[in-house]
Amino acid sequence: MVDQEDHPEDYGKIEGGPSGDRQPLLRIQNVTKAFDEFVAVDNVELDIYEGELFCLLGGSGCGKTTLLRMLAGFETPTSGKILIDGKDMSGVPPYERPTNMMFQNYALFPHMNVAKNIAFGLEQDGLPRSEIKERTNDILRLVELQGYENRRPQQLSGGQRQRVALARALVKEPKILLLDEPLGALDKKLREQTQFELMNIQDKVGVTFVVVTHDQEEAMILSTRISVMDRGRLVQTGSPTEIYEFPKSRMVANFIGSANIFEGSVIGELEHGFKIETIIGEFTLKNTPITIRNKAIFIGIRPEKIFLSKEPDLAPGSNNAEGTIYDIGYLGNTSRYKIRLEQDLIIDVTAPNQTRPQNKTHEFMWDDKVYINWEPSSAMVFYE
Ligand SMILES: Nc1ncnc2c1ncn2[C@@H]1O[C@H](COP(=O)(O)OP(=O)(O)OP(=O)(O)O)[C@@H](O)[C@H]1O
Ligand SMILES: [Mg+2]
Repeated sequence: MVDQEDHPEDYGKIEGGPSGDRQPLLRIQNVTKAFDEFVAVDNVELDIYEGELFCLLGGSGCGKTTLLRMLAGFETPTSGKILIDGKDMSGVPPYERPTNMMFQNYALFPHMNVAKNIAFGLEQDGLPRSEIKERTNDILRLVELQGYENRRPQQLSGGQRQRVALARALVKEPKILLLDEPLGALDKKLREQTQFELMNIQDKVGVTFVVVTHDQEEAMILSTRISVMDRGRLVQTGSPTEIYEFPKSRMVANFIGSANIFEGSVIGELEHGFKIETIIGEFTLKNTPITIRNKAIFIGIRPEKIFLSKEPDLAPGSNNAEGTIYDIGYLGNTSRYKIRLEQDLIIDVTAPNQTRPQNKTHEFMWDDKVYINWEPSSAMVFYE
């Protein structure tokens, strides 16, 4: 087994990713897009590799669609360069790029049936009839829409329409498929099912996908790597594990999941870690390097990494704090607890409900006195 503990920066690196020696398929070099005074995309630098399912994740208005449109050639960067397969895309129109874009609203032709919608781009390119038919049939099979050829878009369900849009974008065999909120129009259950279909299809065709989403769970499930975007900038890029377990800032930690965050300072060094002082007490921190000392640091602990117990954990080096259960949210599979500490701070804790409660009462109830504790290597450190 690879010892990942001492090298958190290597955690979850993917094959062929930045650590591999392959050339990137898509290279975004210092790309900025300003609309008059307003900077929508701010100095973005990013390499994406062949076969990746890459997610651009960020809140509404952070510049995701604008960046995607520049990759497709529908928008020109104010400055910076986009290279695909080493070729500069400046001045190359959308139809001459090895990209295809699947729009947020699918933009299907309402008066054409499914087969015609899919074949449209190939007909525009003047391909022979037999080839168009063969490629359309292949792609219909891939998205499992055989038998629906003659339906119009309005005679399909949301999920089926989504698959037609995907088929139409894939049939032209782009090197890079750009998908803007591909599952945005679907309800939660269908969305989850479609996420797996999308991954399967990507795996089968081997096309590089760049997916825009504002849904962090979706990004985590789908991607080989994620870039988190905030106000036009890429604030962190990494595998889902890296982004979730080693977020670089409080903003990223709170955008992907949630975290209990306290200000702290280093008060001592240990063999594999540090002694930290925070408002809720002194703690040990392990396997997380602290590189900046002259600045306030922040300690973050994810709710699921905190354990609740009736007694303190007395093992040497363990981190405990005492509090009272102030609120419980029972979700069936898990429960969310809010623990009020002596210092009047509220800590969020999530715990799986692994056993069925006896007599319909749970182990922890409102106003119970409890201890919270966590592993020294579970705490995250931030400088901003
Ligand atoms: N053509 C334009 N002219 C002026 N401003 C624009 C234009 N297109 C986008 N913007 C602005 O740029 C910012 C980024 O827009 P963009 O559509 O890229 O956001 P987004 O991240 O895709 O958001 P959403 O998740 O809501 O789709 C927004 O503030 C938007 O108002
Ligand atoms: Mg958008």
